[in-house]
Amino acid sequence: MNNMQNLATELEVPLFSTSDLEFDVNSTIKYGSCSVVRKAFIPALSWTVAVKNYKQQDSNSYKNEMRILKKLNHENLLNLKGLLSDGDSLVVDWCSGPNLYEYFNSKFEQCYSKASTNELMNIAYQISNGMEYMHSMKIIHRDLKSKNVFLIGPSLQKGTRQWKVKIGDFNLAVALNDPNAQNIQTKCEGSLYWMAPEVINKNFINQQISDPYTFKSDVYSFGVILFELVTGEVPFKDLEPMAMVLKIGRREISLNPQSSSHASQEIIDLIKQCTEHKREFRPEFAQIKNLLSKIIE
Ligand SMILES: Nc1ncnc2c1ncn2[C@@H]1O[C@H](COP(=O)(O)OP(=O)(O)O)[C@@H](O)[C@H]1O
Ligand SMILES: [Mg+2]
Repeated sequence: MNNMQNLATELEVPLFSTSDLEFDVNSTIKYGSCSVVRKAFIPALSWTVAVKNYKQQDSNSYKNEMRILKKLNHENLLNLKGLLSDGDSLVVDWCSGPNLYEYFNSKFEQCYSKASTNELMNIAYQISNGMEYMHSMKIIHRDLKSKNVFLIGPSLQKGTRQWKVKIGDFNLAVALNDPNAQNIQTKCEGSLYWMAPEVINKNFINQQISDPYTFKSDVYSFGVILFELVTGEVPFKDLEPMAMVLKIGRREISLNPQSSSHASQEIIDLIKQCTEHKREFRPEFAQIKNLLSKIIE
């Protein structure tokens, strides 16, 4: 058996070859920081899937992501459908909508400008639902950001537009109880806005401090996503990114959204709690989910 077959057998997922797939020629190719993602159809199974192809030098991230995906099974997280025999590729569910970062961009069919508060809070609820499960499985995502939240839809439910949410991109995730887990270094580019102060501190200010990633660093990232959901933009966007990062790392500034049509006092308080400088004051996803479930009722 070759390597890929061994891996697929170990993970108990099918191993596809390129000839099993029909790549959609017209569909957009999406580029991540370490991968290229394409839409494909598997005629034998009638599955529409996404094929995430890693760049060669990222084979550790690739193996890490497939192992993490295999441990998880939840409606708000991407699901591993198989591996591809040629090249470092994962086969996962295809998400037909934009990612949540694109959703805020006015070029994207005015998703955000047409959103109701209920639509936005439903997205927030589903993210908290997926994250609560992930943490219950003792996995820290470590790169939670709107660019890694994928949307399916929209559909109309009781006259309101709604999306199905899938959290993805687990290549930096760590499983706390896995002795074989690899501690892959965070790529800093592109993730600055969602980084907790303790993570910034470690990456940019004081490298001596020990591992800053905890469940609570994911909660901080979620607080930033909640800020994006109620304002349509990332926080501190008027500051130059590096200046912003240093101010957050030194705990000189904190998120302070203004009340607006989408931001009730309850949600503003939740954003502030999730992004507290001191991580012990941040809530757990079970509490966040509980609060959001009452808001979307
Ligand atoms: N399953 C999917 N369905 C649709 N689009 C996807 C899917 N997975 C990823 N994408 C798109 O590809 C981009 C890069 O994927 P991601 O998993 O975040 O890779 P990277 O680790 O390189 O950042 C995402 O931001 C998203 O727009
Ligand atoms: Mg990504």
